Amino acid sequence: MQKKFTPESDLENLHLLMELTHASALERYTTIREGKPGLLVQHIQQLTLTQNGIGTEKVFDFFKQEVVPHLHAGAGPRYLGFVTGGSTPASMLGDFLTTIYDQNTFGFNDTAAPGIEKQALSYLKEILGVAPSYFGTFVTGATQANFVNLAIARQWCGKQKGINVAQEGLSNLKIKIVGATPHSSAYKSISMLGLGKQNIDVIDTLPSRERMDVGALKKYLEKNQEHAIIVLASSGTVNTGDFDDLVEIAELKKRFNFWLHVDGAFGAFAACSPERAQLMQGINEADSITVDAHKWLNVPYDSAMQFTKHKELQAEVFQNSAAYLATQQFNEFFHYTPENSRRWRGLPTWFSLLAYGKNGVRNIIETNCTLAYQLGEWIKQSNQYQLLSPVHLNIVCFTLQPETTKENIQHWLDAVRDDGRVFFTPTVYKGKPAVRAAFSNWMTNEEDLRIIQQTLEKFSLKNV
Ligand SMILES: Cc1ncc(COP(=O)(O)O)c(C=O)c1O
Repeated sequence: MQKKFTPESDLENLHLLMELTHASALERYTTIREGKPGLLVQHIQQLTLTQNGIGTEKVFDFFKQEVVPHLHAGAGPRYLGFVTGGSTPASMLGDFLTTIYDQNTFGFNDTAAPGIEKQALSYLKEILGVAPSYFGTFVTGATQANFVNLAIARQWCGKQKGINVAQEGLSNLKIKIVGATPHSSAYKSISMLGLGKQNIDVIDTLPSRERMDVGALKKYLEKNQEHAIIVLASSGTVNTGDFDDLVEIAELKKRFNFWLHVDGAFGAFAACSPERAQLMQGINEADSITVDAHKWLNVPYDSAMQFTKHKELQAEVFQNSAAYLATQQFNEFFHYTPENSRRWRGLPTWFSLLAYGKNGVRNIIETNCTLAYQLGEWIKQSNQYQLLSPVHLNIVCFTLQPETTKENIQHWLDAVRDDGRVFFTPTVYKGKPAVRAAFSNWMTNEEDLRIIQQTLEKFSLKNV
């Protein structure tokens, strides 16, 4: 008879499965530095799903042989594509424990798990210079944080016009949304909220910058006084890591009524570096704030935070009342975010912050920014590459010399990826096809910078 594999039979074998887990973690952390940061995967094998299973050990063998070789070292030190961060060892332990304890971080009346998330949120407010009075939750990523925050903003806009959007729907509510360099996830969020991407008005930036021209914003607000308005401010743009001036924008709140939303998905961490903290000045004037944990805080994926001053509006949008949910106190997280049930995603952040302290975060931010600055200086001296923007934070935006095309850039990026030492992503900056190098990993060091420069030398256009 064919053997049946079950969770019960695995329980007897648990020590072996834990050894496999242990060995995998050890191997991953000790070899990631040499791993390829980007891979083109053409094909992955697929097993046939059987009636009685093939057993966890066999699945593991297949995973090890057929899947792992096709996984990139995106959490390693020379992945400079999107701002991916990585996972500190403490956050990795927190993430394992999240799975092992499998808590539903749902309500406060049956487990300590949400209370631990509350602590993590308070530590985050402390390091980010966000006032303790802000309410916050953990969500899956900055896109979801933007969605939640803009849903609260939409509720606020309705209130300005005497409409309770959560109850009545959008009715005839016309909302104006304005920003200079909003992230694409703001467009996605506005689409999901039924407000229409085309209703985001883009206003000017300062010359050669991605920073909002606050004079242009003032004119916009003067012209649109009859509307409820959401201002989308950026603290860390994806192309060049530029910042809107939150103090100047907030000054306009004295004359005009608008909701100020700040997307600081990665840039908010500038507050952890005394030299750069002024970039986040004015943050406490924001009505809502988006911050990612799985980017620069270097915790595993599936973790971001949203903060707001308007907890009561957030509950109006997301409250989930039902007799079986027992409590109507509106304390539980599920009254404030799209999910009801969810994993204990704040635990890796709690572990990493407590394990390494304020200086742990500061070191990652400062080292990454220094390396980005040094790469920018190196590119300035080079004949083959052109720096397109000053390095404001952790992102270097450059292009290939001489005048280049999107196709050339892609060809170049593919060649660099296949070389296997460094990974960059493309963009377009002020109409020019360009390359982004974003530093966000806790392991990246001077030696990596040297390898990055060697790679750039090898792949100067004439050598591709
Ligand atoms: C400024 C900004 N906002 C939002 C996002 C979306 O983040 P996530 O991928 O975590 O949803 C990003 C991601 O690059 C970002 O840089």
